[in-house]
Amino acid sequence: MEITKPVLLSGIKPTGDLHLGNYFGAIKQQVELLNSGDYECLIMVADYHALNFIQNREQMKKGIRELATGYIAAGLDPEKLTLFKQSDVSAHTELAWIFETITTMPYLMRAHAFKDAEAKDKEISVGTFNYPMLMAADILLYNTNIVPVGQDQKQHIEYARDTAEKFNRIFSETFVLPEPMIIEEVAVVPGTDGQKMSKSYGNTIPLFGSSEDVAKAVMSIVTGSGTDRPENVYKIHRLLKKDSELEPLYSEHAGKYKTLKEALIDDLEKLISPMRAKYLELQENPTYIDEVLERGAQTARTTANKKMGQVRKAIGVA
Ligand code: ADP
Ligand code: TRP
Repeated sequence: MEITKPVLLSGIKPTGDLHLGNYFGAIKQQVELLNSGDYECLIMVADYHALNFIQNREQMKKGIRELATGYIAAGLDPEKLTLFKQSDVSAHTELAWIFETITTMPYLMRAHAFKDAEAKDKEISVGTFNYPMLMAADILLYNTNIVPVGQDQKQHIEYARDTAEKFNRIFSETFVLPEPMIIEEVAVVPGTDGQKMSKSYGNTIPLFGSSEDVAKAVMSIVTGSGTDRPENVYKIHRLLKKDSELEPLYSEHAGKYKTLKEALIDDLEKLISPMRAKYLELQENPTYIDEVLERGAQTARTTANKKMGQVRKAIGVA
């Protein structure tokens, strides 16, 4: 008997420069999980979701390429899984429409993302409002069992589950009910100003930056004055080394912020340089990324189209 592995699917929006916070908060754990061999994995570049935020051709193209290149450089093995772009599989938007017809406005108005936008008096696009329906389609097209995401995405998986149940009830048993797998952030990685590292705060340490860029970012870490231990430097350093290794270093150089920052730069360089080398190598060969995504799209399309055949039959249009 053939043993089939559980299907794991996740999506990542290609919204910009990858930084150390993304790496320790998400990428590292995801790559380990994906390479574990325990699941049949699909990873999707959620470009149509990102279209709600990025409406600029060059930025979109760059974001997609950078994300695919970045994940491969960080250790994701494209031979072991299906890496594809959402926009390459038109079944996603088609199924989202079908889901929208069985979903009520009040139900979608309960989404955290919608409520946050409303609380801030933001003018919200229909695409943003319907975001959970497209995400439900992403997940349900592939008979997904497990969806690894950060805590902030948990509600979206519940939407996908509810939508699957509703469709199965109204029409016929068509979709597998997915479960979330919450990826714990190892820690909130602080940025150079001590706040959470985020591209929107301009306080990032780039994951694939040159040695000079990384050194410059580390040197700009805010240290305050009058304390022996620069906390913001230490918190980042702890992601790379154990406390037992850092304590003697920080005691020996108490108050010597420059020396401690230089030590952090050295350790960051050890982490980053092999990934950067791989990233640069991949950049030299852009057709490789295109090929990986095209291969992924073909595999994804086969499964998605099969599911759409069942869906069309179930609703009575085929
Ligand atoms: P940004 O805040 O720079 O816009 P994103 O929201 O695109 O980053 O983050 C993508 C993922 O990276 C998130 O799901 C989160 O898990 C992780 N992440 C981002 N910033 C940090 C951080 N400072 N510390 C820990 N994890 C982070
Ligand atoms: N909404 C997710 C995020 O913002 C990205 C995403 C899109 C996704 N489709 C998905 C995640 C499907 C998991 C499964 O992070």
